Amino acid sequence: MTVPANPAPLMELRGVKASYGRIEVLHGVDLVVPRGEVVALLGPNGAGKSTTLLVATGQLPASAGCVHIAGRHANGVRADALARMGLCTIPEGRGVFRNLTVRENLRMASYSGVDEDLVLERAVARFPRLGERISQVAGTLSGGEQQMLAMARGLATDPALLIIDELSMGLAPLIVAELYEIVAAIARDGVSILVVEQFARTVLGVADRAVIMQHGRVIAAGIPADIEAELSAAYLGASS
Ligand SMILES: Nc1ncnc2c1ncn2[C@@H]1O[C@H](COP(=O)(O)OP(=O)(O)O)[C@@H](O)[C@H]1O
Ligand SMILES: [Mg+2]
Repeated sequence: MTVPANPAPLMELRGVKASYGRIEVLHGVDLVVPRGEVVALLGPNGAGKSTTLLVATGQLPASAGCVHIAGRHANGVRADALARMGLCTIPEGRGVFRNLTVRENLRMASYSGVDEDLVLERAVARFPRLGERISQVAGTLSGGEQQMLAMARGLATDPALLIIDELSMGLAPLIVAELYEIVAAIARDGVSILVVEQFARTVLGVADRAVIMQHGRVIAAGIPADIEAELSAAYLGASS
């Protein structure tokens, strides 16, 4: 049996609190992303999912608690340094350059030291549909294709952890299912994934574990089969 060089989870938040101005919106969040796993972060609108990602990726300071990345204390570490440590975030809304072509978007994602052609080649192998649309302006792609482009851009940096906010937002169920098959394949290649969803069902088919947030707190965490009841309760509670 081989012992991993660094057995610490890729990401670990302990008792994280965060505020916008004077208003505290995270009230002590615990979240662990083990190596090689797909973790779904679920919860209704306003639960604090995106804010949790902002703290985890160095874009918003925690007012209390700890952020650990690959076993290293990472409170106050800047987003670009975290990126060098292997974190890659795809923001809500996907963050592709709408006026640039697919090819140009992918080229811009290849950073110094990584061959542009290799980035293109890998992207097209993973997402054949992007290959068919390589010269198309990104703003004219379908929502699902834009999400594929955003994921391809993220993977160009060879991340250890890919973080995706609201992967399925605005997409038809069939496309969402297709995207989650790709997510599962990316995970099988050894990339850990933290994916935020407001509506949960499809992601549970590929997630190793799920964490449910409500009102700035984690209300349940575990393997998907074990959190079904809490999940229903969270969404019923949110709609009232
Ligand atoms: N930039 C901001 N300024 C002030 N309040 C914010 C800001 N962003 C989010 N919030 C508030 O923080 C809470 C959590 O929001 P958010 O993390 O975006 O939730 P989710 O991603 O789960 O929908 C909500 O009450 C929201 O209104
Ligand atoms: Mg959000």
